[in-house]
Amino acid sequence: MTTVIDAILKRSSEPRLQEPAPSPDVLEEAFRCAARAPDHALLRPWRYLVIEGKGLESLGKLFAATADQGSTTLAQDREKLQRMPQRAPMVIVGIVSPRPHPKVPQVEQEMSAAVGMGYLLLALQSAGYGGIWRTGEIARDRRVSEGLGLADHESIAGFLYVGSVVSEKPEVPRPELESFVARWPADDAG
Ligand SMILES: Cc1cc2nc3c(=O)[nH]c(=O)nc-3n(C[C@H](O)[C@H](O)[C@H](O)COP(=O)(O)O)c2cc1C
Repeated sequence: MTTVIDAILKRSSEPRLQEPAPSPDVLEEAFRCAARAPDHALLRPWRYLVIEGKGLESLGKLFAATADQGSTTLAQDREKLQRMPQRAPMVIVGIVSPRPHPKVPQVEQEMSAAVGMGYLLLALQSAGYGGIWRTGEIARDRRVSEGLGLADHESIAGFLYVGSVVSEKPEVPRPELESFVARWPADDAG
């Protein structure tokens, strides 16, 4: 088994995170990995924001501002949203930054961004850190994307909460290969 396969087979999302956040050199290498995402026509349709420290408080305020007016649980919602970014010492926002191209539809550019997110998680875990990809309504709320400085054509691929693992989450059951892999045409199967 190669190191890469071993790293992939051991990858798990880890929601329980604490300081320290990934060091600058580990982070730099992880972003180099993200930039290895397959990318039709080399459009580089992704970018990332790294948020730490006081930035996480500001992110919490942005999240809290999305609590809907008129909701009976408004105050609790606000508080919960405000605390969300504190679940890790660092949040990396993955942004899809699509570019118009005659042969590369937006969905392909979104897929490239998603692969980069996966590589980032994998690289950080391989370097001894943990992380989890989260989205939710806040990821689709224009108030959040505007607050983060996204342009109108950009969108949030997700928030990667990253840090050092407090305790590993229970193993997620993985599907049997037969349930998602087949030969086509079926008659050709050996
Ligand atoms: C696009 C995307 C969005 C996700 N959003 C959330 C989320 O908001 N909250 C959450 O708990 N898990 C979310 N997940 C799932 C976790 O990141 C994780 O993959 C899942 O819990 C399975 O754990 P595993 O990665 O160890 O298999 C999301 C995954 C993807 C790919």
